[in-house]
Amino acid sequence: MERILIIGCAGQIGSELTLELRKIYGNSNVIATDIKPASNEIMEGGPFEILDVLDSNRLFGTVSRNKVTQIYHLAAILSGNAEKKPIASWNINMSSLLNVLELARELELKKVFWPSSIAVFGPTTPMINTPQFTVMEPNTVYGISKLAGERWLEYYYRKFNIDCRSIRYPGLISYKTEAGGGTTDYAVEIFYDAIRKGSYNCFLEKNTFLPMMFMPDAIRGTINLMEADSSKLTARAGYNLSGISFSPNELYMEIKKHMPDFKINYNPDYRQAIADSWPTSIDDSVARKDWGFTAQYDLAKMTEIMLKEIKKKAVT
Ligand code: NAD
Ligand code: SER
Repeated sequence: MERILIIGCAGQIGSELTLELRKIYGNSNVIATDIKPASNEIMEGGPFEILDVLDSNRLFGTVSRNKVTQIYHLAAILSGNAEKKPIASWNINMSSLLNVLELARELELKKVFWPSSIAVFGPTTPMINTPQFTVMEPNTVYGISKLAGERWLEYYYRKFNIDCRSIRYPGLISYKTEAGGGTTDYAVEIFYDAIRKGSYNCFLEKNTFLPMMFMPDAIRGTINLMEADSSKLTARAGYNLSGISFSPNELYMEIKKHMPDFKINYNPDYRQAIADSWPTSIDDSVARKDWGFTAQYDLAKMTEIMLKEIKKKAVT
């Protein structure tokens, strides 16, 4: 029987992944943790603990007491916020991963999932259809920490046979929990402001294309990867995963089809330089070949669902 620990369950991904994993493995077998309270659905629907992942003794206690077999480690400081506090963010992103990997080694856990990001790429990477294996020279604190993290996953896999799995998520778009301080957050904020204010002040330029993905595709991809046959996995450090590539202007035009009076203006800030260093689209042929992933949502379908769901939240 699998016993799963989620670290960072209150965040944009954790708030949805925890619930999906509980459906598959049973509520009592998925122990949700975060440094802050999560939604009532998570805190009341199964085991929940306040846990700081940097506290390695406490983490060790929670894992051994609950007889955990797999960890999904989602806690991190994302790209935009990490630029404001570089050293603290590096410490959180790196020390937390090393705590989890060491624990996995000592307690011989079955699997570890830790998300990487498109931020591992940098200005010298081919930007269009970025390949799985390519030049990686990130120039952001977050990207440097994700690339280092990828190397550590590969190291623990080869040296200690820990079954580490990872996805280089694109920007994730969802309506359940607001985004956590990244550069792709504009593509979530825009929906809230469209509904609440009828206008959006965008922090990226109108023609900045970035790789994105609707959350249901990301959750399905994550679970598929964790269930895949270990012997088929050839990219232990992190799989490229492709969803939808679009610019703020394209997203604006798509929202306007539903809300003709919606207005946007562009005031790029420090996050523009981060976006400019990232790919515009991703080649995920290795993920397709190794474990058969294909995204199901396009821009039109995602926009329709986002508007419908955020409207519901606005009136409740
Ligand atoms: P988020 O910021 O929404 O959530 C992170 C969660 O971690 C928060 O609930 C936070 O309280 C928690 N946390 C922070 N410090 C902690 C600590 N010391 N101990 C315990 N919990 C702590 O982030 P997210 O968007 O859900 O991202 C999850 C992971 O996926 C991160 O590793 C992120 O880098 C990666 N990722 C996310 C995206 C995206 O678009 N959301 C894209 C690529 C990669
Ligand atoms: N969405 C994330 C960010 O912008 C990408 O990892 O930080």
